[in-house]
Amino acid sequence: MDVVRKTKQIVTMPFDVEEKDGASNLVTTVDCAVQQYLKTELSKVLPEADFLGEEDPHFVEKGMFWVVDPIDGTSNFVRGMNLSAISVALVENGEGVLGVVYNPFTDEMFYAVKGGGAFLNGTPIKVTDKDLSHSLLFTAFSLYNKNLAEPCEKVLWELYPKCDDFRRLGSAALELCYIAAGRAELYFEMRIFPWDWAAAGVVLKEAGAFVGTLHQPLRYDKPIILIVGNTEENYQAVASTVLKHVPVLPY
Ligand code: IPD
Ligand code: CA
Ligand code: CA
Repeated sequence: MDVVRKTKQIVTMPFDVEEKDGASNLVTTVDCAVQQYLKTELSKVLPEADFLGEEDPHFVEKGMFWVVDPIDGTSNFVRGMNLSAISVALVENGEGVLGVVYNPFTDEMFYAVKGGGAFLNGTPIKVTDKDLSHSLLFTAFSLYNKNLAEPCEKVLWELYPKCDDFRRLGSAALELCYIAAGRAELYFEMRIFPWDWAAAGVVLKEAGAFVGTLHQPLRYDKPIILIVGNTEENYQAVASTVLKHVPVLPY
């Protein structure tokens, strides 16, 4: 957490922006600098652990490795919205064992270690027990693969009348941690990479959430469909709706 908190000094520096792959997919000099800093500092914390970071990703299939999103919510960051996070997970034998998600603009730090509970700035957090009709759903329209928008729309069209409302903040890591903290209940994203969800996944599980995927195991070497529910019943409600409209993995 000390290592992650120090990224604030980098995040508040002036930066340049480039398009990585189309108009929606941006990278800044801050993304690259935060990743380089974390790669160096985390290797001092645990020299035996490998490193997977969004900027210049080398997928790791086994052993112990860090999974880092240097800035989750780059589009928000570029626009000065103060809704972005640094996301760091440690994965061991195919399972997330530590997760830290830090918003340097609000100083909210969400964190968990497997088996130790989930916390926000030192205070224990847990999911709500709201039923579907009282639940808020965070989602995204697969912005880097807009051909997937149509099945997303079908899923959301069916869920909308059954739940309270939708939200889209533009930082998956923060949205997922907000569910862990009881600020919302559900998550569905059609195509999401491990650096977006790995750290928040540990926080969510420790906060009592149900976290899963469809058509393949929950994995750290490829994008997945991500589904989260505050309760098993709500998880199943979202998962069965996704399965109905997305019977095979469309990528
Ligand atoms: C993105 C954000 C967004 C989510 C995308 C992610 P980035 O991360 O978390 O909310 O919908 O799937 O790729 O590109 O800002 O690091
Ligand atoms: Ca991200
Ligand atoms: Ca990112």
